[in-house]
Amino acid sequence: MKAVRYTRYGPPEVLGIHQVDRPVPRADEVLVEVRATTVTSAETLMRQGRPWWGRLIIGFTRPRRKWRRLGLELAGTVAAVGANVRRFAPGDEVFGFTGFGVGACAQYICLPETASVQHKPTGVDFEQAAAAVDGASTALYFLRDLARVRRGQHVLVNGASGSIGTYAVQLAEYFGAEVTAVCSARNADLVRELGADWVIDYQKEDFTDHHNTYDVIFDTVTACSFNRCRRALTSHGCYLPTTGLTNWLLAAATALRGGRTVKAGMSVHKREALLFLKDLIESDRLRIVVDRNYPMDRIVDAHRYVGLGHKVGNVTVTIAH
Ligand SMILES: NC(=O)c1ccc[n+]([C@@H]2O[C@H](COP(=O)([O-])OP(=O)(O)OC[C@H]3O[C@@H](n4cnc5c(N)ncnc54)[C@H](OP(=O)(O)O)[C@@H]3O)[C@@H](O)[C@H]2O)c1
Repeated sequence: MKAVRYTRYGPPEVLGIHQVDRPVPRADEVLVEVRATTVTSAETLMRQGRPWWGRLIIGFTRPRRKWRRLGLELAGTVAAVGANVRRFAPGDEVFGFTGFGVGACAQYICLPETASVQHKPTGVDFEQAAAAVDGASTALYFLRDLARVRRGQHVLVNGASGSIGTYAVQLAEYFGAEVTAVCSARNADLVRELGADWVIDYQKEDFTDHHNTYDVIFDTVTACSFNRCRRALTSHGCYLPTTGLTNWLLAAATALRGGRTVKAGMSVHKREALLFLKDLIESDRLRIVVDRNYPMDRIVDAHRYVGLGHKVGNVTVTIAH
C-alpha cells in the first residue's frame, strides 16, 4: 500500500510517498481502508521536530521508526476485523483519531476496536468526516469538560477561524454562551455565520485592552498568555491555552489558588466526544469548515499551506485506491 513517510525532520519536502506492507489486524483490531485524512498544525510541527521537548518522545536527532508516519484524523471503510471485534464489521464507514500512533496518511491503518473511532456521521463525505475529529473534539474537551461552559456565560475564542476555533465558536453558542470571536477581518463573516455575537479583528485591536471581561478565554492558537488575559477575565474566569509547558504548570498552580485560573490538557480519548459530535453533525447543528483539499500525492503542498498558519478551518487529504 502507499503511505506518507519521513525519516528526518525538516521542511515539507522531507515527506515522501512510499510503498509499504499493508498492516494485518490483530484479534482486537480493525483494518480501515482510509479514504480521507487531514493535515493539522500539530503535524507540521512534528515534521519539524518541534517543540524541542517533543523530540524526547518522537526521536532526538530524527524520528524513531514508529514515528515516521503522519496523519492523525481519518475517515474510511472497515476492510477487515480481528476475531474478537464486536463494534465494527467489514463495510462500516467510520471516522476517528489515531492518537499517538499517527499513520492515517496511508491507504490502510489498523486501530484497536477500543480506539477513538465511531461510525461516520451520515450526510457528510469522507473528507468532511475526517475534518470533524481533532479540532472539534478538542474544542469540546476544553469548553465542556475543562471550562464547563454554561448558558449566559461570555466566552471569547481567540483564533476563531482555525480548526479548533471554528468548532469552538459553534459549541460555545450551542452551550448557550455569548460568543466573542477574535480573527482577522477576512474571516469575520464566516465566524458570524458560525454563531459569534461579536467579532474583534486581532490585526487592529488587542482584546485584552477592551473593558469587557469574559468568563472563558479560549486561546485556541495560544497567541496570548494568562498574564495578558488576566485583566480580561471575570474574577472566577478561566484561560484555556491549547499548548505550552508553562501553561501546564500555571494550570496546576492556579488550580490550588482559586480565582482566575488556567485550565490546560489534551483530549486523547475521543470515543464519547465523537459520538456527541456525530449527533450534532447529523442534526445540522455543527458545520465542518474545509478550506482546501489535496490528493495524497500533493502532501508536500498540503503541508506547505498549513505551515503558513492561515488555514481557515481544516485542510483535508483524499486517499485514492
Ligand atoms: N491540547 C490539545 O489537545 C490540542 C489538540 C489539537 C491541537 N492543539 C494545538 O492547538 C493549536 C491550534 O490548532 P488549530 O488546528 O486550531 O490551528 P489552525 O487551524 O492552524 O489555526 C490557524 C488559524 O489561526 C488564525 N490565527 C493565527 N494567528 C492568530 C492570532 N495571533 N490571533 C488570532 N488568530 C490567529 C489564523 O487566522 P489568520 O489567517 O487571520 O491569521 C488561521 O485561521 C495548535 O498549536 C495545535 O498544536 C492542541
